[in-house]
Amino acid sequence: MDWKIRELIEADLTKGFIETLESLTDVGLTPQEAIPIFRQRKASGVLTLVAVNSQDQIIGTASLIIEQKFIHRGGRIGHIEDVAVHPQAQGKGIGAALIQTLINAARTMKCYKVILGCNDKNIPFYEKQGFHKHENGMRLDLPLLVEGGGEGESSQEMGALAVTI
Ligand SMILES: CC(C)(COP(=O)(O)OP(=O)(O)OC[C@H]1O[C@@H](n2cnc3c(N)ncnc32)[C@H](O)[C@@H]1OP(=O)(O)O)[C@@H](O)C(=O)NCCC(=O)NCCS
Repeated sequence: MDWKIRELIEADLTKGFIETLESLTDVGLTPQEAIPIFRQRKASGVLTLVAVNSQDQIIGTASLIIEQKFIHRGGRIGHIEDVAVHPQAQGKGIGAALIQTLINAARTMKCYKVILGCNDKNIPFYEKQGFHKHENGMRLDLPLLVEGGGEGESSQEMGALAVTI
């Protein structure tokens, strides 16, 4: 095995991390633009794992977000997000290792369940990791209207999220 799994560090942003995420969707960020996002995510407690090859290039990634509920007496659940393996590295067990490492992290964090959303094509992959289909996913697209910025630009610090109801 010529790869290993560890936590994402800032230096990885120039080492194939964005290219790896592109196997999931269009990312449209330079490494420089990704730095403040990396810092905000880390400060808000998102765990982002990467798979790195022997040249320290990023070839896979997956993230875990822990949510504490009121229900289940304050029980925690883990959300797995943004699972991507570089096209040239797929089929080597990297996706499975990323998911199993996140499941272990969720277990350590005392989560009572782990959930994720995926398309039909990837259901067999997640079933092999122990997941089963449960209920349905729903989605509402919200066009962002940000002053002085284009669609999708984030001017709001996560920590300063303030909503007027
Ligand atoms: C889906 C993805 C993460 C899988 O990662 P991977 O490293 O290629 O998968 P692995 O090599 O770890 O596969 C683990 C097992 O799942 C199987 N598997 C992987 N993808 C599969 C698929 N789409 N359908 C059926 N089985 C699949 C493998 O054959 C392997 O089976 P085995 O344990 O019997 O040998 C990867 O293909 C990917 O990044 N795809 C593009 C982005 C994407 O769709 N991400 C998921 C978003 S929800």
